Amino acid sequence: MEVVIVAGADAAGRLVGGAIADLVGRRPGAVLGLATGSSPLPVYADLARRHAAGELSLGSARAFLLDEYVGLPPDHPQRYRAFIARELERHVDFAPGAVQGPDVRADGPALLDACAAYEAAIAAAGGIDLQLLGVGSDGHIGFNEPGSSLASRTRPKTLTDSTRADNARFFASVDQVPRHVLTQGVGTILEARHLVLLAFGAAKAAAVAQAVEGPVTAMVPATALQLHPHATVVVDEAAAAGLALAEYYRETWAHKPDWQGL
Ligand code: F6R
Repeated sequence: MEVVIVAGADAAGRLVGGAIADLVGRRPGAVLGLATGSSPLPVYADLARRHAAGELSLGSARAFLLDEYVGLPPDHPQRYRAFIARELERHVDFAPGAVQGPDVRADGPALLDACAAYEAAIAAAGGIDLQLLGVGSDGHIGFNEPGSSLASRTRPKTLTDSTRADNARFFASVDQVPRHVLTQGVGTILEARHLVLLAFGAAKAAAVAQAVEGPVTAMVPATALQLHPHATVVVDEAAAAGLALAEYYRETWAHKPDWQGL
């Protein structure tokens, strides 16, 4: 795992936006994995800036969302599909239909079929090249809450009260945060060829320290990144505050050969 400690969220956005631009440049048809929430926003802003400057086209790329709320009306602005349309898609040039999320229109057991179809769609696209991730203060990735199997696949999950409280800032009240979601599983996420986890602020410091340096455990799903051959963790100083090896990570990054990329 590589840990990159940056000055702030904007620097993280430029770094990861650059890695995505490189990927799309060398691999037409690249497949991106998109997270929602606050953490990836600087990356989406950087991609929009590169596109506006004529430096980046996502016209041949495809993208899959990590997760989606179940039970919100189709036109609800906090649906993750709507979030990605607003924060990224409308600012770049994905082809129509190139961005896909889990289909939450079904009800009851048919949701399981939607999960299987989502896994099949990712596989049919050739798998995800670069998966963006945030981390919950409880250590979740996607919506794989503590206790999620490290081998789990896309499936329905129930959010913890702590995640619903964290996400209440996007809703009028915590009562309006859905309890249920569909999420890529930890096993699904681990199949992406490159994982990039972003975390900013002191509230993420404990989760980041556990994810990077703690024992691998289903109780902290983000620790599964330690099992991945190409995982990059990009954090600001506040989110890095709990890392025992912070000086080593800084030293390594400062002396990384340019040819290695992210
Ligand atoms: C979002 C997602 C979640 C968030 C996590 C952190 O698609 O899957 O795991 O990445 O809850 O959220 P923020 O970035 O808002 O702190």
